[in-house]
Amino acid sequence: MPSHPPILIASDHAGFELKEALEAELKSLGYEVDDLGPASDASIDYADFAHPLAARVSSGEAERGVLLCGTGLGMSYTANRYPHVRAAVAWTPEIAALAREHNDANVLVLPARFVGTEEGKAILKAWLDTPFAGGRHARRIAKIERDATTDTSTEEKP
Ligand code: RB5
Repeated sequence: MPSHPPILIASDHAGFELKEALEAELKSLGYEVDDLGPASDASIDYADFAHPLAARVSSGEAERGVLLCGTGLGMSYTANRYPHVRAAVAWTPEIAALAREHNDANVLVLPARFVGTEEGKAILKAWLDTPFAGGRHARRIAKIERDATTDTSTEEKP
């Protein structure tokens, strides 16, 4: 039995090949994966695949997702329109680790035209393995959502 909750994954045509490789990698690491498509590298529009994934992370139905497009930008723009979604474009393992540690990124976005397969796997692994640091970073994340109980952004700073 897989020991982790399912991770959602989706791409556009530019990210399709890396999506397939990262899906296999996730499965070999013991994760259950829910592939939201596409099923081929035929040209499609990234938003059509980002919306369903981001909606499920936003509602809490899923905890984590991976999106891939050529630059990572279209996918991240779309996913970050959803409350509670923190979609981070990462092009090195260090950025992926910081996106977890400081930003509690619940969606990893890969710029598939700019990272190779092995690099992509290392970025994925860094994102999977790095915990959120909490503390001051939790306060900062609350300010993104403008959570009234913890958001002090309207208060004067000393
Ligand atoms: C597709 O050509 C490309 O525009 C897309 O993959 C992505 O980079 C958009 O942000």
